[in-house]
Amino acid sequence: MNVLIAYYTMYGHTLAMARAVAEGAGEVAGVQPVVRRVQEFEAVDRVIDANDFLKNIREAQKNIPVCTLDDLRGADGFVFGSPTRFGNMAAQMKQLFDSAASLWLKGELEGKPAGLFTSTATTHGGQETTLLTMMPPLLHLGMIVVGVPYSTPGMLHTEGRGGTPYGASTVAGPQGELRPTPEDLAIARALGRRVAEVTTRLRS
Ligand SMILES: Cc1cc2nc3c(=O)[nH]c(=O)nc-3n(C[C@H](O)[C@H](O)[C@H](O)COP(=O)(O)O)c2cc1C
Repeated sequence: MNVLIAYYTMYGHTLAMARAVAEGAGEVAGVQPVVRRVQEFEAVDRVIDANDFLKNIREAQKNIPVCTLDDLRGADGFVFGSPTRFGNMAAQMKQLFDSAASLWLKGELEGKPAGLFTSTATTHGGQETTLLTMMPPLLHLGMIVVGVPYSTPGMLHTEGRGGTPYGASTVAGPQGELRPTPEDLAIARALGRRVAEVTTRLRS
């Protein structure tokens, strides 16, 4: 059974979260996590070409294949991750959803579970709005949305870090200077595990 972890990142935080989600999914017997990056826009690639820091982040992902429609088709469960852009998902991630119309027409993704994760620069920069506004495409495609229950360790907190019932999250810092905290990564692993468990139960 495959759980597809499809993410977009520019500064690496969502990639770190994707790796943690994949770790968690891989802890469930019989589940194979499949990590895919979302296609970058050519215009953004040109911006990255002129920035050594961003080039290093791109280089770190060179062995991760770009997510295709066949990857979506072949997955039994999903976890999608996008950094926040003005309180919403990145356009690159929206492009992946928008490209899935042919799968929607045939109902190919219906009944499959899907979870979400995100990264914001600031504590109140829109983690919840991003995760909630990533849900409508999943619901249109017929997926079953999986969140993070408050029984998950680290969820009941008042600290300046991630962890929402709508999905896993992290705070990158205004200059991207922060890294996902151990708690953020643990919640991301728990989300991966939960989606993998739900996938297994739905398929059995
Ligand atoms: C166009 C643009 C819009 C952004 N909008 C927000 C925002 O609304 N709230 C916020 O906290 N951060 C915002 N950010 C910062 C990103 O969310 C941040 O760079 C990202 O979480 C880092 O994740 P990554 O390392 O995976 O790229 C924005 C960044 C860009 C480039």
